[in-house]
Amino acid sequence: MADFKKATALILTVALLVNLALMVDADGDDDKKIRVRKHKGEKQCIQGWECSYWSKYCCNQTISDVFQVYQFEDLFAKRNSPVAHAVGFWDYHSFILAASIYEPLGFGTTGGKHKQMMEVAAFLAHVGAKTSCGDGVIDGGPLAWGLCFKREMSPSQDYCDDYYKYMYPCAPGAQYYGRGALPIYWNYNYGAAGDGIKVDLLHHPEYLEQNATIAFQAAIWRWMTPIKKNQPSAHDIFVGNWKPTKNDTEEKRGPTFGSTMNVLYGDYTCGQGDIDPMNTIISHYLHYLDLLGVGREEAGPHEDLSCAEQKAFNPTPAPPAASAS
Ligand SMILES: *[C@@H]1O[C@H](CO)[C@@H](O)[C@H](O)[C@H]1NC(C)=O
Ligand SMILES: *[C@@H]1O[C@H](CO)[C@@H](O)[C@H](O)[C@H]1NC(C)=O
Ligand SMILES: *[C@@H]1O[C@H](CO)[C@@H](O)[C@H](O)[C@H]1NC(C)=O
Repeated sequence: MADFKKATALILTVALLVNLALMVDADGDDDKKIRVRKHKGEKQCIQGWECSYWSKYCCNQTISDVFQVYQFEDLFAKRNSPVAHAVGFWDYHSFILAASIYEPLGFGTTGGKHKQMMEVAAFLAHVGAKTSCGDGVIDGGPLAWGLCFKREMSPSQDYCDDYYKYMYPCAPGAQYYGRGALPIYWNYNYGAAGDGIKVDLLHHPEYLEQNATIAFQAAIWRWMTPIKKNQPSAHDIFVGNWKPTKNDTEEKRGPTFGSTMNVLYGDYTCGQGDIDPMNTIISHYLHYLDLLGVGREEAGPHEDLSCAEQKAFNPTPAPPAASAS
């Protein structure tokens, strides 16, 4: 039921997006005027286009209040440098427009300004790490190169898995190589994300590299949605909505940043010891906290950041299938 409501809200919001896009540049304070009501004992609000239906989360500051365009520019300082691979593609407005769909659900609007900034930093750390081209020796340091890519550059295959031919059949000629802000691979992942954001990504996987709002939307959907059985969403872990069971605790999964990696990448990143792909994501998170003025010390002890010792929520069946996502 809750899911249905969410879905309905999503459809309504998506329908509104076209109009809203026109308002993003307006920056009028009228848009942001807060409306308040009491509903079944709960205080709920609406704040213009950015938090556009009755929700308790809309009573807090919105993302654009706590994370402004200059901060986006700081985090992704090198994305439009001539050697980057998605020059001119990623921008702040696309991010806020995509985020606005999920702000009434608590994305970047949960727990007060400090927590809100931390969630934005955590989400964008995943994005920055996954779209970075800062591995080599280039200027600005390796953490300044997030949003350098919008797609996998030299796909070795078209990522069409026939096993899903009934649910998510590959469209003729379509290729499902990595695209987006949290890159999506494989027809079934495009299909699921497309269902999630109500955009036909199965037939139009290219939308993810043509429209930054859609690319951010798919990534935030992934962050907000429990995808697999027995898994919370990364969002619910991060803001503390999820309570670990005894099993979780035994397998070292706490309500931590480390567990967000577990949900998003499973045993490709977690439970493998102190590996680079994991440390790169953590480094981005700490760097972004510094840049936002929150400070890396707020991130907590290293064991909360790491997932080196965690068992995966859903272990990959052996032998490891070629289904990284
Ligand atoms: C990008 O996608 C958004 C959301 O679906 C839509 O509102 C917008 O018009 C699209 N932009 C372009 C340039 O197609
Ligand atoms: C809104 O922010 C306050 C702190 O300013 C926080 O205590 C509260 O939990 C937040 N509301 C929601 C719904 O997260
Ligand atoms: C706890 O873990 C054990 C062993 O991995 C498993 O058999 C059991 O089903 C788990 N219990 C729950 C509630 O997930």
